[in-house]
Amino acid sequence: MKTINVGILGMGTVGSGVVKLLQDHAALLDRRVGARLRVRRIAETGTPRIAVDPKLLTTDAMEVINDPQVDIVVELIGGTSVARTLCLEAVQKGKHLVTANKALLAEHGLEIYQAAATKRVDLGFEASVCGAIPIIRSVREGLVANHIESIMGIVNGTTNYILTKMTETGQPFAEVLAEAQAKGYAEADPTLDVGGLDAAHKLQILASLAYNGYIRFSDIYIEGIQKVDAVDIAFARELGYRIKLLAIAKEDSGELEVRVHPTMIPDTHLLASVGGVYNAVHIRGDSAGSLMFSGRGAGQMPTASSVVADLVEIAHNIIFHRPSRVSLLPTGAMAEGVGLRPMERIRSRYYLRVMALDKPGVLSLVSGVLGENQISISSVIQKGRAEQAAVPVVMLTHEAVEGDMQKALKRINHLDAVAQDTVCIRVEGAED
Ligand code: HSE
Repeated sequence: MKTINVGILGMGTVGSGVVKLLQDHAALLDRRVGARLRVRRIAETGTPRIAVDPKLLTTDAMEVINDPQVDIVVELIGGTSVARTLCLEAVQKGKHLVTANKALLAEHGLEIYQAAATKRVDLGFEASVCGAIPIIRSVREGLVANHIESIMGIVNGTTNYILTKMTETGQPFAEVLAEAQAKGYAEADPTLDVGGLDAAHKLQILASLAYNGYIRFSDIYIEGIQKVDAVDIAFARELGYRIKLLAIAKEDSGELEVRVHPTMIPDTHLLASVGGVYNAVHIRGDSAGSLMFSGRGAGQMPTASSVVADLVEIAHNIIFHRPSRVSLLPTGAMAEGVGLRPMERIRSRYYLRVMALDKPGVLSLVSGVLGENQISISSVIQKGRAEQAAVPVVMLTHEAVEGDMQKALKRINHLDAVAQDTVCIRVEGAED
């Protein structure tokens, strides 16, 4: 039986999971691969989290890359600096590459995809998006015959946990975040997660694959969950909605929208029931119809499961001499005729919470501004009564243009009768 040798860069949580999975399932994987998939070298500067043969270890990543026996390099270092150099080095040396590094692919993927295509090596990155969920494989292979109409995903477990907890308990954002950090669910520096950047990294990778062209990370509109207020979660519930941080890619009339922001979706939408740290991606293809994938988006063994799936696929390709069997990488610009739609031109329904003084004529002032900006209201509720004080006036609009909404909000917030900035949350997944 042939042996396929794996070199691992980074033996942290995921790296240890990969080594453990390759050891624990060795017999099963040998049978499925038709070859022995073995760890030959591991680069790690710290202390490995599980016991490994010391002869496998080195502190020098280039020793792993330069080892002529290593067939596949697995990059699990993270970050976009050292990891970028090492990934490009590995590809230049003709090694197949597996990485779980979403930030690296979202920000520097183009040169890595192009280098892999030029060198005709395989590139596996299933673990970079949604941990255990085989979403890359599904978009790249399973749905290859479809025009993808839309992708809507809960692709960040930390924010889904926080929003779920806020929904269940009514606690404010800061309190739930602090609890999540104390329990180790959220990173000590949660900026990437709560600010929506981690979700945007995953969206960049998925949408570039689904729409066959490299999307610049800087072209993605990103809004995090820091300003989501428990009051709006409660109103959303009353109206039959949930608030989720969604990563959205949609094609419409030859234009593509790519955005990450808190979003209201109906209780009845499949994504609404995905709570806690779980991830889910809802995809609509023109032939396949609607599909929903859900599962664990992070964690040692769920992520290792996807890394090892890539290793198995590449090992197969090596054995059967078919490098780059699935070569649908976004190695260039979007197809002719497909452009990105600027955020101000997207269309959405909106939830508004205007904090207005409770006196005659205020509602007509607010609705007047909306009307002047071509925004039509579908329902209004005023909560409470407070002489001389501001009360929440909650509105849902019909579909409107984002630029018009932003113009209207500026004017509404300047009205004397409006006490604080209006909360505006986009609404998806409901018929107008
Ligand atoms: N920090 C990510 C999350 C996991 O909370 O989903 C890795 O992508």
